[in-house]
Amino acid sequence: MEKQRGSFTNKLGFVLAAAGSAVGLGNLWRFPYLAAKYGGGIFLLVYLVLAVTFGFALMVTEIALGRKTRLSAVGAYESLNKKFKFLGYLSSLVPFIITPYYCVIGGWVVKYFTVFVSNNVSNAATDDFFTGFITQPAAPVIFFIIYVLLTVGVVMLGVEGGIEKASRIMMPILVVMTVFIAVFGLFQPGAIDGLIYYLKPDFSRFSATTVLAAMGQLFYSMSLAMGIMITYGSYMKKEANLEQSVRQIELFDTGIAFMAGLMIIPAVFAFSGGSEEALGKGPSLMFVTLPKVFDNMKMGTFVGAVFFLLVLFAALTSSISLTETIVSIVRDKLGWSRKKACLVVLVFLLAVGIPVSLGFGIWSFIAPLGMSLLDFFDFISNSVLMPIVAFLTCIFIGYIVKPKAIIDEVEVNGTFKNKKFYTVIIKYIAPVCLVAILIFAVMEAMGVIVV
Ligand code: TRP
Repeated sequence: MEKQRGSFTNKLGFVLAAAGSAVGLGNLWRFPYLAAKYGGGIFLLVYLVLAVTFGFALMVTEIALGRKTRLSAVGAYESLNKKFKFLGYLSSLVPFIITPYYCVIGGWVVKYFTVFVSNNVSNAATDDFFTGFITQPAAPVIFFIIYVLLTVGVVMLGVEGGIEKASRIMMPILVVMTVFIAVFGLFQPGAIDGLIYYLKPDFSRFSATTVLAAMGQLFYSMSLAMGIMITYGSYMKKEANLEQSVRQIELFDTGIAFMAGLMIIPAVFAFSGGSEEALGKGPSLMFVTLPKVFDNMKMGTFVGAVFFLLVLFAALTSSISLTETIVSIVRDKLGWSRKKACLVVLVFLLAVGIPVSLGFGIWSFIAPLGMSLLDFFDFISNSVLMPIVAFLTCIFIGYIVKPKAIIDEVEVNGTFKNKKFYTVIIKYIAPVCLVAILIFAVMEAMGVIVV
């Protein structure tokens, strides 16, 4: 078994591949809008605390599970305990929910890229441009379809390698540009208030919803609680230092999310006044704010076009790997050829994604739990399914497999420095907190308690 499975050639190769999957729209688009909405500094603080505790423990667990069993999610759970096969299926469900709406956002990125290329920046910087776009019946659907075809095309042709190579060059450029745009934004009048809002925790804004939102974001951004890291771990070499690799992936992912927040939140204060309404924009925040920044910049059209192209690549690497995951689940289960599986997945993505796209316009009457369809799918995966998967994983490792199995796997190479800390989190802290947060958040959502 060991010999047949390919491995990443070197240690950095693994970290880069895992980080490449981790960095995407989650960091650039999702993190800033949640931070803006949930109180800025307090969200950032909660997120950081969760990242070094829950995030660390869960990522170590998933990668170790994969490396130990050399299998992906369903097989990995099953091989350790037959009764827990369902957990593999449950986690595999997440990519099916996330990918369609991920591609809807991908379509928005394509649209903004074309807007900047065709030199319409001042148009895009007006308040109503974004809403005008997403509420149209045809345009957002067309851009979504373009994006889906790009993604599935790459998966069908099996040419991810090329995209990955390209994005290895583009990622560092994206990081540099993010820093540059953030610094530019911070020099705009009014931005400092935004900086304070982003960095200074306001404890009166603390609530179960904040914690749940931060935790969902953590899972989403680090591709946890959906079986992905198990698969990555299954390709990791025994010689690589697992604990250190997890630290590096976390640092990289969190660093980019932090910079994205720094690029967007102060700019909201500078260009839209930092009102509750401006900060609570949700999924549209990046698309409303950044054009205003570029509009105020010399050569902003060019900078904006390059920026959205880089974001497009970061998004593509993620949606490709998400689609690849779905395709391989379908193939494993049904034994289909790659082509057939790709075509069926394409139909699935279109069937779910088109309503999501229309949900902002002509189909906005479909509003489960009072949310737009995109927010609804996002909520079901990040705030419901992923916490449940994470909870069951903690119970499974903490009490059935026992943490020792994971610790031994980490210690195949060197010592696991934080093993006591790890054990306490997996057995006690994480499961208790997860249940408490889920209950509180559901009660908040139903209006039982008011914050
Ligand atoms: N973490 C990715 C992001 O931040 C999104 C994502 C979730 C993902 N699950 C994934 C990417 C699985 C690749 C594979 O955008």
